[in-house]
Amino acid sequence: MDYKFLLDRAKEARKQAYAPYSQFKVGAALLTREKEVFTGCNIENSSYSATICAERVCVFNAVSQGFKEFTALAIYVGSKIAAPCGECLQVLFEFNGNILIIMGGEGKYLEKPLSQLLPCPFKFSP
Ligand code: THU
Repeated sequence: MDYKFLLDRAKEARKQAYAPYSQFKVGAALLTREKEVFTGCNIENSSYSATICAERVCVFNAVSQGFKEFTALAIYVGSKIAAPCGECLQVLFEFNGNILIIMGGEGKYLEKPLSQLLPCPFKFSP
């Protein structure tokens, strides 16, 4: 499947990034089984720890609107390729341990399943 449309949505979402502290703007777009797309950008806070990544904004946006089955996530940070952080990978794992992650840069992209980026996720077993 060609995920260029999803990367384009992530690139568009990056325009809304609020990153006055790091200046590092991130956009992400999440595709659901129903082919809905939820987007997000990073939103920083002066307390730093209250900052939220673009990927988690997508996931929380989708879940809060009743969507929980995700097939792909695209992330766009600008010209370079970047993988989602470990915390976001863990959040994505919660809903699909095999989701495809598309990492876009200027004129290039990389695709990897979540299981390759997060080989040892945390699993809750009471
Ligand atoms: N950031 C994301 O949005 N996604 C990631 O996967 C890693 C980092 C954001 C958080 C912060 O606003 C900035 O990038 C620098 O860490």
